[in-house]
Amino acid sequence: MKNEIKIFSPATVANVSCGFDVLGFALDTVGDEMIIRKVPQKGIQITKINDQNLPLETNKNVAGVAALALLAETNIEFGFEIEINKKIKPGSGIGSSAASSAGAVWAINELLGSPFNTTDLVRFAMEGEKLASGEAHADNVAPAIFGGFTLIRSYNPLDIIKIPTPKDLIVTIIHPQIEIKTSEARKLLSQTVSLKNATKQWANVGGLISGLHTNDYDLIGRSLQDFVAEPVRSKLIPGFNKLKQTCLETGALGCGISGSGPSIFVLSKGEKKALEVSEAMKTVYNKVGIAYDLHVSKVNNKGIKILDTK
Ligand code: HSE
Repeated sequence: MKNEIKIFSPATVANVSCGFDVLGFALDTVGDEMIIRKVPQKGIQITKINDQNLPLETNKNVAGVAALALLAETNIEFGFEIEINKKIKPGSGIGSSAASSAGAVWAINELLGSPFNTTDLVRFAMEGEKLASGEAHADNVAPAIFGGFTLIRSYNPLDIIKIPTPKDLIVTIIHPQIEIKTSEARKLLSQTVSLKNATKQWANVGGLISGLHTNDYDLIGRSLQDFVAEPVRSKLIPGFNKLKQTCLETGALGCGISGSGPSIFVLSKGEKKALEVSEAMKTVYNKVGIAYDLHVSKVNNKGIKILDTK
């Protein structure tokens, strides 16, 4: 049995415009690094986090809570230490809490010889999401664990479908340096959706899934519309409408809020177009006057990756 594992746990884009709480995908170049170590002491200890604002107490930390949910379904006589090197800022909208929760349970499962399947791991990681946002949504943890695009077809029972990724799909993420708490952004949403908007929304989910399956980039682009969360949440993101309009005029396939924001994701066909779109995004955002990070990434089809084992 291996004693220690170092992993990369990817950032993720949830909702993907039309799929509130059910669609997401994983990024290739952005994510946290974590070290998980087997120790004689039972339970979970978070020994190190490079972000002082995050709690080390196991039951207040998303990785700790997710890991405890996994351990509760084992009868092992030892425990684990977790070190987290956060490279995704909390409150950024690209699945910071999900990367920690998913990474912890994925690595522990690996060290235990994989007694649990990927759907079980999502179920455990969702406990971390519940702690972070008040609701156990799976649209960040599922793509982190499965890789690629995922659809949560059902929450009860949990039914997760991995969707193929067209090979020329490139993502650009802009992360304005403001924080939006997912728990707050969820409270803004109405609990009801009009039949007219629901009809448009589920038609777009069908279109997006079909486009991803058939490499139909135009259909993917046409389907990236959100009639549920974006109209309300976009008001929290300075410059959102101008940025979206500019990306579309520059030839991006589509643009929307990543998760609950403030990050914005843009999908383009091919790297050349993605870089052109990125430049246009910088021009818009430099005028907004808020500092930002910008990432260009492929979709990560593998999900969490092992960097080292001992
Ligand atoms: N589906 C969740 C939300 C994702 O939009 O609240 C949060 O990252």
